[in-house]
Amino acid sequence: MNIKQVTSVYFSPTGNTKTAVELIAGQLPWKQGRLDLTDAGRRPEYHFMENEAVVIGVPVYGGRVPATASERLKKLHGRKTAAVLVVTYGNRAYEDALLELKLILLRQGFCPLAAAAVPAEHNIVRSIASGRPDKADRKRLKQFGRELGRRFWELSSNYRIGDLKVSGHRPFRKYHGVPLKIKVGSSCKNCGTCIQKCPVQAISRTDPRITDTERCITCMRCVKQCPSGARRINTMVLLAVAQRLKKVCGERKEAEFFIA
Ligand SMILES: Cc1cc2nc3c(=O)[nH]c(=O)nc-3n(C[C@H](O)[C@H](O)[C@H](O)COP(=O)(O)O)c2cc1C
Ligand code: SF4
Ligand code: SF4
Repeated sequence: MNIKQVTSVYFSPTGNTKTAVELIAGQLPWKQGRLDLTDAGRRPEYHFMENEAVVIGVPVYGGRVPATASERLKKLHGRKTAAVLVVTYGNRAYEDALLELKLILLRQGFCPLAAAAVPAEHNIVRSIASGRPDKADRKRLKQFGRELGRRFWELSSNYRIGDLKVSGHRPFRKYHGVPLKIKVGSSCKNCGTCIQKCPVQAISRTDPRITDTERCITCMRCVKQCPSGARRINTMVLLAVAQRLKKVCGERKEAEFFIA
């Protein structure tokens, strides 16, 4: 099968997953496309053909695929379309996320040929894995992309459903969200960026100080993108989370790659 186009598909509130997906996809020798599933709003159904490939990425939330991403991935329909799976995680663990992503994409008609689990800056406690993917990570992700480019024909023509083995266990671990609330300080200039960028429309259209805590998925996008630094998690709470996480995230983890 001659592949004509590869599309980078991602749900990536703070950009790590987008970076990892694009580094891999950018090495594949076909026309490049992009589908960003992060913004809120209605979406059409997306159909991919057999002569296309996708590199699809999500961040890990509590060892799982974020429920919002999982919902949005149901809009994608493959027709034996080759897929490369990517999860990024904050140097703690990715647990069941890669297996969950694989099963979602199989259900949607894709053929998962390869996968990567990529440590990246923890977007809640940004001192963990700060600045990752760094130079060394970028090099490895590009190498992986180049290897896939070289071996794509061999991999896709010998592929049988179930060939790709990734880490993870069923039943999947339960995820109940993180008990953190976003506070808005007096430096808010009412610019509306957070309202526009929130992936789940959790911020009041008329008053950015009001966040619907039931809707908020604590994705940290508004915190990262607020130009006034007005949105943040309470410092004491964040310190407590950082201390707890540092016990399990302190040591540098390296990206893992899987090929069918
Ligand atoms: C709600 C939430 C839950 C998270 N859970 C995990 C986790 O279970 N394991 C981990 O290592 N990192 C975890 N992280 C860190 C993110 O997976 C990591 O920073 C990821 O690269 C963010 O991707 P993005 O920049 O594409 O949004 C979590 C982050 C958030 C916001
Ligand atoms: S992005 Fe920041 S400054 Fe702009 S409305 Fe939101 S909280 Fe206020
Ligand atoms: S309000 Fe919650 S869901 Fe919306 S961008 Fe901010 S952290 Fe993410």
